[in-house]
Amino acid sequence: MAKAKINLFIFLITFVVLTITSILWKHILWNTLFYIPGTPHDATSINIRIEMCNKSISMKSIIPIKSSSHFAVSAFIDHRINKAIRVISIIKRNSTQPLYCLYCNNDKVCKFTKAEIDIHSDHFGFPFGASDVLCRGDNTQYATHIALTANAADEVSDINNLDFLPIKNRVSKESFKYNFTICISNLFGDYNNVLQFVQTMEMYKLLGVQRVVIYNTSSGSDLNKLLQHYEREGILEIVPWPIDQFLNPSAGWDITIHPGDLHYYGQLVTLNECIYRQMYQSKYVLLNDIDEIIMPYKYANLPLLMEDLRQKHKSANVFLIENHIFPKTQFEDSGRFVLPEWKNIPGINIMEHIYREPDRKNIYNPTKMIVNPRNMMQTSVHSSLKHTGDVYRVPLDVCRIVHVRTPLQGSLTKEQLFVDTRVWEFQQELIPNINKALQLSGLLI
Ligand SMILES: *[C@@H]1O[C@H](CO)[C@@H](O)[C@H](O)[C@H]1NC(C)=O
Ligand SMILES: *[C@@H]1O[C@H](CO)[C@@H](O)[C@H](O)[C@H]1NC(C)=O
Ligand SMILES: *[C@@H]1O[C@H](CO)[C@@H](O)[C@H](O)[C@H]1NC(C)=O
Ligand SMILES: *[C@@H]1O[C@H](CO)[C@@H](O)[C@H](O)[C@H]1NC(C)=O
Repeated sequence: MAKAKINLFIFLITFVVLTITSILWKHILWNTLFYIPGTPHDATSINIRIEMCNKSISMKSIIPIKSSSHFAVSAFIDHRINKAIRVISIIKRNSTQPLYCLYCNNDKVCKFTKAEIDIHSDHFGFPFGASDVLCRGDNTQYATHIALTANAADEVSDINNLDFLPIKNRVSKESFKYNFTICISNLFGDYNNVLQFVQTMEMYKLLGVQRVVIYNTSSGSDLNKLLQHYEREGILEIVPWPIDQFLNPSAGWDITIHPGDLHYYGQLVTLNECIYRQMYQSKYVLLNDIDEIIMPYKYANLPLLMEDLRQKHKSANVFLIENHIFPKTQFEDSGRFVLPEWKNIPGINIMEHIYREPDRKNIYNPTKMIVNPRNMMQTSVHSSLKHTGDVYRVPLDVCRIVHVRTPLQGSLTKEQLFVDTRVWEFQQELIPNINKALQLSGLLI
């Protein structure tokens, strides 16, 4: 009887010791230098210790992936998929090849794993497409930086020459710095539409927007002054987007009209990057162009609009807002907003363009979106590609886009257009705010 008890006791002690050892061993493995030479290419995960002190972590927003035609853009922990690392990337669609992730923590301990590549379904037929490169493996949540490569782990020389990206969104938050952020995909060419831009920015501020993110390939010189002003003010985040240094980007969405390597200066890449960048910064993200105002009509501002939409459509996380064209060729007659101080400011004065085109028969108005970024996986321009929750198409009397631009129905006369003076309702605050911004930018003396 006593002997049986002693045996049981010894068994239990052995069990506990073994368990503790195995837990410690696992910990030691993750923290110890070791590199397995000649590991087969399909190794799922091996550990490597590298000297990171001399490596700079790239602050560039586009980096070529070694030994491939592809590019890495930004890396994020995705808390929704077991804390895997998602690297927003640009993949040459007809040259896919295995890619590998080398992710490291601050203690210079790295893991090398094979990546999963997910090319987004929307690429408009261009050779390069917005993609996710997913790196799954142990301890991804502790990783601070990551490099992608097309070379397998046994090609050691490569490992010492990799460019690393910092890993963002390492902490998931439930309260946010901003309620409304706008992601404006791309600024390129000599875009110098200062007046429309300053009017749009000031309009958005009155509507409740706290943050605007712009991807800058290039801009006109006057607009650049305005951008610098808003950056100083703190509302604008400018992400350098030198896509033209790596690819021949298309200036449009139709490859037959605007040939190139990548759709519209990489708009699909930057919109996705922006959603992840803002995931734990902003409650809502608005995805629209630089010349579009997502305008509530039934409510005074965006907070009131979203409060109502959320209450009535609890399961919706993607809100589609219809685009409506206000032709820049039709001017209102009184000239009351032809202000002398704006005479020398380049660009369109949206307050003069109050005529809205009617819906076209059998044509669905394209939409832009207000989204909850934490429910988004992948987005396109006019709709979401992957998300959780429902999509709600917001009726045009509740909210629609004021888009002053070249007409789509250019043959229509004023009498055939709707008069829509919503922007005028903000004039009392809007005009002084616009002038203040122009002054602070040095564009108005
Ligand atoms: C790292 O840089 C230091 C000086 O900055 C140098 O002495 C050292 O050799 C470098 N190490 C490697 C591995 O390049
Ligand atoms: C991939 O597309 C490019 C044109 O973008 C073409 O020149 C090349 O031959 C294609 N490669 C393959 C493997 O199909
Ligand atoms: C966001 O909205 C909440 C109310 O819903 C408000 O208390 C908070 O101050 C707002 N945050 C900002 C940055 O305006
Ligand atoms: C936008 O990018 C261009 C080209 O790199 C640069 O010259 C300009 O200063 C940038 N503007 C801002 C406001 O960062």
